[in-house]
Parts: sequence; structure tokens; C-alpha cells
Amino acid sequence: MEERKIRCPKGADVKEFLRENSLLFFDCGGRGTCGKCRGRVLKGDAGKLTKEEETLLTEKEKAENVRLFCQIRAVTDLELSVEREKPVFVSEYPEQKGSCGCQEKRLGLALDMGTTTLAGLLVDLETGRALAEKTVWNPQGCYGADIISRMQYCLQPGGTERMQEKLIEGLRELLGCLTGQAEEIARITAAGNSAMTHFLLGRKTDTLAYAPFQPEFFDSQNVDAEKLGFPVPKGTELLTLPLLQGQIGGDITGALLSVDIFEKGEGTLLFDLGTNGEIAFYWKGKIYVCSTAAGPALEGAGISCGMRAQAGAIESVWLTGGNIFTKVIGNRKAEGICGSALIDAVSVLLDLGKIHPDGYLEGDRFFLSGTEESGGVFLTQEDIRQYQLVKAAIRAGMEAVVHAADAEQKDISGIYIAGAFGNSLRKRNAVRTGLLPDLSVEITAVGNASLKGAALVLVSENARKYVKKIQDSAVLVPLAEAEEFKEAYIREMGFP
Ligand code: FES
Repeated sequence: MEERKIRCPKGADVKEFLRENSLLFFDCGGRGTCGKCRGRVLKGDAGKLTKEEETLLTEKEKAENVRLFCQIRAVTDLELSVEREKPVFVSEYPEQKGSCGCQEKRLGLALDMGTTTLAGLLVDLETGRALAEKTVWNPQGCYGADIISRMQYCLQPGGTERMQEKLIEGLRELLGCLTGQAEEIARITAAGNSAMTHFLLGRKTDTLAYAPFQPEFFDSQNVDAEKLGFPVPKGTELLTLPLLQGQIGGDITGALLSVDIFEKGEGTLLFDLGTNGEIAFYWKGKIYVCSTAAGPALEGAGISCGMRAQAGAIESVWLTGGNIFTKVIGNRKAEGICGSALIDAVSVLLDLGKIHPDGYLEGDRFFLSGTEESGGVFLTQEDIRQYQLVKAAIRAGMEAVVHAADAEQKDISGIYIAGAFGNSLRKRNAVRTGLLPDLSVEITAVGNASLKGAALVLVSENARKYVKKIQDSAVLVPLAEAEEFKEAYIREMGFP
């Protein structure tokens, strides 16, 4: 975290002012429900506490002039103390030696446009060698942690253009981290969910936000990256990965390409677990896909002490000799808990009998670290309910795709988990809490498979054909109509 003092002029719309300058994320879109936009008013009159602030702020915070910055008004000039996550965080992947020796090379850039983060891979187009990989926060987080808040913002005049600008701002930042020689970029490929792909191209998302979730286009789009605002030569091709359905975007196309779904064989199941859990099941020449509204808990949002996987977040929880241990990113005082550790914590509390099979949590809250007085990290009954909703949605989605393919659970031959989240997932705990089925098949984390897919399309003509085959083989399983989904959802709410 970095702390900055910000002056906000009298009469300014504080939320818009902070958004314009990418100074703070507004996880709930500024509705006053998440409590994540806390900061201190150092000087000036920021108006009366709203009822949302009365509810979410503690007495101690109120006494210290802590406010929710989405709720305050600049009655006079304000001086604010903003704690912001560093815009660029260290790549999770080691940068390869020689990444700076890109002079005179034809470079390619593969992009994965996630809702929370933007990842980029710089590739030498002559050799196909990966040169560097970086990840930055998606600055669109200023408009809400979830994609729906952002699509809602797009409904207002200029909203679509603003959302595109914010995304391009983040991608330019990412490119700047990868290379100082953007003029050497000859080609760009971009994978993202349907909304992110629309945001990139400045296309309307009105019909994507509601059933039946119709995108403006499905196929790969080929545009001039320079015209979009990338600092690359005029005419540089930017190719998006095709969408499989309105809710199943190019990120899943990329992931299916990178795991080589047709080669892996029938019965292969792919999960991409984020705010939406996308699930794909390959069976008899078809890929059955669905998107299930998992909610943001696995991304550290919507949980009392939830946070993204960054310094200060509890990243793992385990039990030794009946005692709970935690590991915090950056070896510092725990400030919150990230998604993968939430799974660990639920698993540990199940093992201790603190959580009952129906999800009841003994006691008002359970401290994983510290105490009430020391501002410790805890889970509440509501947090456990949120987790139950997530895992029920994912398991029910899995059952729905398998059923739609006219197959059975025993036909699942292998499970692949895409996304950085998969790398930190403890499989034992995922199975213990019922997030994943207890099958005797291999569960493999495949990292950022969407980015790898985009990189394959960048360097291989064959990959472009393969992508078309994936697109043609995809069958959408509409969960709203699937009886098995509804039944399984209720059944899977409990813990094994
Ligand atoms: S409470 Fe302010 S952004 Fe959610």
C-alpha cells in the first residue's frame, strides 16, 4: 500500500475526482455497501456521515475522521489521505533474462484483460520466445470490482468511452512495464471476458448485462492498435480472441486453446474461477460451457476482511496440533484474507467442528489472526454463507455441463483450474469444502491459461485455426433453464 495526500477542490464530485485520477478502487461501484473505500479526511468539511457510513464505520474510525470516500462531499476544499494499492505489482512469473535485449526484434504482445488484473506477455515473434511477463491492477476497479457495476456505468452518457479509456490507460501502463520499445511491437492479441473485450473496442455492453446476454459480436476482431491508443506504430494489428457466448468470453477460448482441450481427451473439465465461474466440459466432440455467478468471494471481495492477494493478505491457513497457523504475504501484520486462504480457513474450521455441515458457524465471528482490539482478521457467519453460495454455484454449474453432455460425474477424466487463483489453491481444501468434487482424477492448475492462449494465437497460424474449431464446438448450457442446476445448487449448499 502507498499512502498519498490528495487535495480535492470544494464542490468537486469526490468519487469522480478520485476515479479520474485512478486514486482509489470502488469495489461496490460506490454504492456504500462494501466499506472498502475507507480513508481519512485530514482537512475540510466532507459533509455529514451518511447512513451507510453510520453502519459500516466503527466508533473508533468515526472518532479518527475515517470516512467512506464514495459517500463524502467536498463542502469545502478537502485534504484526504488515500491508501492505495500499488498500481503495478510484481509479476508472479520470473522475468526471463535478456528481456531487455529486444532491440531490432519484432515483438508481439499477448494480453489477458481480467476484471481485476491485466497481464501481458512480451514475445519475440522471430523465435516465439517469451521475453517478459507482468501484471498490473485493472484501473477500471475505480468503477467497481465487478463487471456488472462497470456495465451499469457505461449506460450513462460517455460511460462506454470512459471505460475504454481507463482500460487502455491500464494496458499502456502494462506495456510500459514490459518494454521501453513499444515502437517495436508488430502484433497484439487480447483475451478477455465478453465485457472486457467490448470495453477494449469501445463497443456497447447494454445487451451483455442482462439475459439473454447478447454480445455485439462473437468472432475475433482485428483492429488498428494505434487507433485504440496503444503507443505502437500505425497499422499494428490487434486481434481479440473470439467469444464463445455472451457470458463466455475470449479468456475461456484462450484457456481451452492453451490446455489443448481436444488432445486432453473426452471427459476433460476446465474451471476458471473468478467472480463468474466459467466451466467447460469436453465430451463427444463438443465443448459444453456455462458461466455461473460465483460472486467475488474467491477474489477476496464481499467478505468482511476479504482483500486481494497482495502484501498484508493471509495467503494460507493450516492446522498443526489443533492450532491454527496463517501465512501473510510480505511477512507482515495480517490486514485481510484472500480467496485461496478463505478456502483453507473454511476447511480448517470444518475440521475443528467450528463450522457445521449446514454452514452454521459457532460464535459470532472467528478470529484467524489477532483480536477485536488489535484489529484482527476474522470470518463471520455471513462470510461462510457467501462461501457456500460460491461453491454451490460452481458445483451445480459443473453438474449442469456434465448432464447437458449426457455424461456422468464418473466420466470426468481430468480437471484443469485456470487463473492465478488455481496456483495457490490447496486441492485438499477445495475438495474438503466441496468446491471441487472428490474424484480420483488429477487436478491440475494451469496458471493464466487465457494469457497463454493469447500468446499462442500471437505466434501461430495453427492456433488461430484451433480457436475457430473451439468456437464451432462450443455448446452453451443455459443454467437458468437447467433443472439439474437448481437441484444441485440447493444440494451443494451444505458441506461434505
Ligand atoms: S463502500 Fe465505498 S466503494 Fe464500496
